[in-house]
Amino acid sequence: MAKLTSLLSLAVLAIQAVAFPQYQSLGGLNERELEALLPRLNPVRHPPPPSPPKDTSIRLVNDKNHPWMPLRKGDIRGPCPGLNTLASHGYLPRNGIATPAQIVEAAQEGLSMDTNSATLVTYASMLIDGNLVTNLMSIGGKSPLTGLDPSKLATIGGLNTHAGFEGDASLTRADFFFGDNHSFNQTLFNEFVDFSNKFGGGVFNLTAAAEYRFHRIQESIATSPQFSLVAPRILNAYGDPAVATILFVDGRKADGRLNLTEGLTRVPEYLSRPGCPLSVA
Ligand code: HEM
Repeated sequence: MAKLTSLLSLAVLAIQAVAFPQYQSLGGLNERELEALLPRLNPVRHPPPPSPPKDTSIRLVNDKNHPWMPLRKGDIRGPCPGLNTLASHGYLPRNGIATPAQIVEAAQEGLSMDTNSATLVTYASMLIDGNLVTNLMSIGGKSPLTGLDPSKLATIGGLNTHAGFEGDASLTRADFFFGDNHSFNQTLFNEFVDFSNKFGGGVFNLTAAAEYRFHRIQESIATSPQFSLVAPRILNAYGDPAVATILFVDGRKADGRLNLTEGLTRVPEYLSRPGCPLSVA
């Protein structure tokens, strides 16, 4: 009997060894098991977060090194028009898979987001939506390009993952309940423009942003049976409208005029980033 039990235990161990790698928690593995497993997960050492850029001058966003390009098959975009724009102009890898350091650098270089704000939102999102073993995150949906999922609990779903930083009552994206929480939604964008005309004199300024923020929450309460607005989403639900008023405008004019086309991913030829790093905290 003891022999049979030992044989069974060995068999279970053998099955685990074969089936194990990408599907179970790393917790409880011994050093030898980790040594065998980790190389298959392509672990990388995380570099420190980037420093503030040296050059923070006003500069064209859509310059010769950063032309807008249409999506290629497989390129990923997601709920954030800022990151989508940075990817479509090549500040981020155009396929939409990036390291947190690349995201912070792109937000600083492309749209003058200040280092602290960019570092905070990026690394917080990375913890929820990224692959901490390969140090890669998708700016949209889940992708095999971020590597194997290291543990059962890790969803590594990219920024589309609902109820982290992505959430309901977005400015230009529908609520999760309606089936697509991440694509540009023309109907909502039309509302966005209406509010800019009605409350901002044709401009998405802070008055228009406040009115539209309130309106979108009321609209979701009225129409979306699973509406939710809790932390951490509630923080950027109020931050994002303000971000749009300062980072998506021409840095030479700071007139609050939102200058984006092609589903909020394309910066016009003349648009310059703001001439100093801007905090969105
Ligand atoms: C630096 C790293 C950044 C991360 C990790 C990030 C992440 C996100 C996420 C997850 C959302 C979705 C929230 C929702 O459910 O609506 C979002 C929305 C948004 N982001 Fe970003 N973002 C970043 C940088 C930027 C930058 C540089 C801008 C520049 C303008 C920006 C502007 C916006 C705006 C306006 C929205 C609201 C979109 C909407 O509600 O339709 N973000 N961001």
